[in-house]
Order: sequence, then C-alpha cells, then structure tokens
Amino acid sequence: MRTATTKAEVRAAVAEARRAGKRIALVPTMGYLHEGHLSLLDRARAGADWVAMSIFVNPLQFGPTEDLSRYPRDLERDLRLAGGRGTDLVFTPPVEEMYSAGEQKVFVLPDASLEDHLDGASRPGHFRGVLTVVAKLFGIFAPDLAVFGQKDLQQALLIRRMVADLDMPLEIDVAPIVRESDGLAMSSRNVYLSAEERARALALSRAVEACRARFAAGETDGDALRAVVRSALDVPGVEVDYAEVVDPATLDAVKVAAPGSVCAVAARMGRTRLIDNAILGA
Ligand code: PAF
Repeated sequence: MRTATTKAEVRAAVAEARRAGKRIALVPTMGYLHEGHLSLLDRARAGADWVAMSIFVNPLQFGPTEDLSRYPRDLERDLRLAGGRGTDLVFTPPVEEMYSAGEQKVFVLPDASLEDHLDGASRPGHFRGVLTVVAKLFGIFAPDLAVFGQKDLQQALLIRRMVADLDMPLEIDVAPIVRESDGLAMSSRNVYLSAEERARALALSRAVEACRARFAAGETDGDALRAVVRSALDVPGVEVDYAEVVDPATLDAVKVAAPGSVCAVAARMGRTRLIDNAILGA
C-alpha cells in the first residue's frame, strides 16, 4: 500500500493507475477507522480495480464549539487496517495541503431546502465544509466511484445532489450502517463515551429499530411513528437533538410514511453527539 501527503503524489499515482486501465474508487474518511469504514473499502474494491482512501480531519466542517481539537486520531493503526483491506493508496494531507495558507475563497453550498433539516439545522455551515472538501477530493482523485456510509444520511444525499447538480462524472455508492453486536451504530466518536454514556447511547439504535418495527407492523402515520421514536429516546442522560421520520429525497418530515422513508435521530450523551437512522421497509 502506498501513502501520499501531497496532491501531486496522488495525481501521479492516479495517472499511473489510469494508464494501466484501472477503474478508480475513493473512500473519503476522517480516520480513526472502524469496521464501518472498512466495509466502505470492501464495496469500493467490489466496484473498482484501484482503491484509495483519504484520511483528513477537515476543519471546515467543524463549528467553533465542536470537537475538532479532540477528534480521535491514530494514523498508524488506520494505515494497518486500510492495508489489511487491500487499499492501494492512502492520502493523509496536512491541513495546509488542502487549504493553502489557510485560504479558501470558493465553497460548495447546499440549497437551504436540503440543508435546513436534521444535522444541517443543528450544525450551521457543516455541509458547506463537507461538500467543499469532498468536491476538492473529487478534483484531486477524479475517481470513477466514491463510497460513503448511510449513517450520514444527509451527507450522502447532499453529495449525490452535488454530483448530479454540478455534473461531476462519477458514481456514488452508499453503504449500509455497520453496528456493534448490541446495535450501536459504529462511529469514530463512540470512543468519547464513558461506560454509562455508552449504555445510554443504545437508545438511538433502539429508537430507530422501534420505528422500523412499528412501520413493519402497519403503522404509517408520521406523528405516531415520531412518538414511538421520542418515547424510545426518553432516557435519562440522553438529550435529543432530533427524532424524525423523513422523505429520503427532500428530508421533509412525512405525514404518511412509505417504504423508503427514513427514521433519523441525533442525541447527546454528555459532550458526545451521535446520529443513527433506519430505512423503513428495508
Ligand atoms: O463522513 C466523513 O467522515 C466526512 O464528513 C467526509 C465525507 C470524509 C468529509 O470530510
């Protein structure tokens, strides 16, 4: 496995792979890898001949009071794990390589109709940061395929829309959520949780599962489903940010749920904010 810290090194490696006729896949991450990230590498490998991963904790997508400085990092372990999954190249740029002299004068902005929901409503500017860095990574790698996780539901939707609306010539694949054996959705941020907070955090997966089960049992009323979710999240020490059942294309709250509607939750356990979701009828 090769590593690169500069855009020039990436471009040279990609050009070489292209000359060899390879289809290129990119898995963008912020590192501190877990099985969820590794499942993205497996999907990338299934859909391409040459697989790259980027590991970059993107300052642009963190708000001033968020966890940028304490975001977990362990590059040595990440490289070992990525190598174990047959990754061809890992790109680990320093911040200055991505944002020269700390300057960026052009950004990718989502329309408010897709931003002002769920995480976009709670984290102003977050998706401007995500879309801008992902657009830059697409510019650097020019991949044929990029793979993201379903846990970041709104991110995946906005990236798909960016690619469609800005005519970016690549395919986007979205992989299912990978869970711990007790149901907790895998997240790099799970490492922040104390034992008590981790136990409380199970309320999130239980809430989306309760919603999925109630829908499967025949309930389609949006408010009734949201009440199921809120009740499952009503646990001491769990501060709910949102508990929604939304349309997967518009992220508007549904009046009547249908197969494909998504139950999405976010909550804080202490200082740690986690998200989870489930596709109804899936
Ligand atoms: O999902 C993430 O880890 C990040 O938001 C991404 C897509 C790598 C952009 O920084």
